[in-house]
Amino acid sequence: MASVPLVEALRALEQKARAAVEEAGDAGDLERVRVAYLGRKEGRISGLLRGLGKLPPEDRPAVGAEANRVKGSVAAALDARAETLATDALQARDPVDLTLPPRGKWRGTIHPVSRAIDDIWAIFRSMGFTRTRGPEVDDEWYNFVALNTPLDHPAADEQDTLYLAPGLLLRSHTSPVQVRTMQKHEPPLRIVAPGMVYRRDTYDATHTPAFAQIEGLVVDEGVTFVDFKATLAEFARRFWGPGTQVRFRPSFFPFTEPSAEVDVKRQGSDWLEIMGAGMVDPAVLENVGYDPERYTGWAFGMGPGRVAMLRHGVRDLRLFYENDMRFLGQFA
Ligand code: DAH
Repeated sequence: MASVPLVEALRALEQKARAAVEEAGDAGDLERVRVAYLGRKEGRISGLLRGLGKLPPEDRPAVGAEANRVKGSVAAALDARAETLATDALQARDPVDLTLPPRGKWRGTIHPVSRAIDDIWAIFRSMGFTRTRGPEVDDEWYNFVALNTPLDHPAADEQDTLYLAPGLLLRSHTSPVQVRTMQKHEPPLRIVAPGMVYRRDTYDATHTPAFAQIEGLVVDEGVTFVDFKATLAEFARRFWGPGTQVRFRPSFFPFTEPSAEVDVKRQGSDWLEIMGAGMVDPAVLENVGYDPERYTGWAFGMGPGRVAMLRHGVRDLRLFYENDMRFLGQFA
């Protein structure tokens, strides 16, 4: 078959046609190439086949078959080129830089402060505590007065409260949840209440105007200072390890008597204050209608941001609240 000159001529034409297709720069060029090669009357392949009648009959089928193959091959090249041109046109309108490295998938993770809250909560849960919460917008009575803090008391000033309207404020601590819980339930009570609190604090490495706290409260008959110390010491050892030392320093809060700051110390590091705490002041129990002759209790307010700083060796509390993904992504 290769010896038939028409077959050779068809193959040569196929090469030319394909070259012309590759050079076509737009749909108009492609149409001209199509007409020039595949056109029924003027097309060069049809033109060649006009010589078919002069061939010996035995050669004609081979030439016909080759002609069909070449037509199909050129048509396919035309289609492929048309598609490439269309894609190029799209990309020119909305360029995609295929050489950029892929971004990878975002993987979400629990925020380190939330994780500290969850881990602290897990320990108290195992000791029979229930988790609860209260509103972030509260009033002066719950935030101060019910907690034995008159509004003109220095302890009320100290908290540099953010007011929304007269009497209505962003809670400056989670302690009002103690009051709300005691109003709703009779003893025995064992609760922890995590949440955000707000103060007009100066923004620095250890202060942010919005930060997380966890409140704890136990009220029952016969609850003593021994329960208070032992439970918090047990918490600290479970959280930081068996060798952890715990220290109770005398302090003052209007809603506890006596009051303490609780510090922990792990081997080779300094004492670190993790919470304020104390025995619930009988005046608070009275404010919620509990009989202070019958019931006693203890409470604490812990800073899970502090706990997370210590845990991860972070020196600046602000990092936890700025939500920079480059920082938070490290905890994934
Ligand atoms: N509410 C106190 C604060 O934010 C912390 C605190 C101290 C909470 C003693 C307590 C407590 O429940 O007993 O500074």
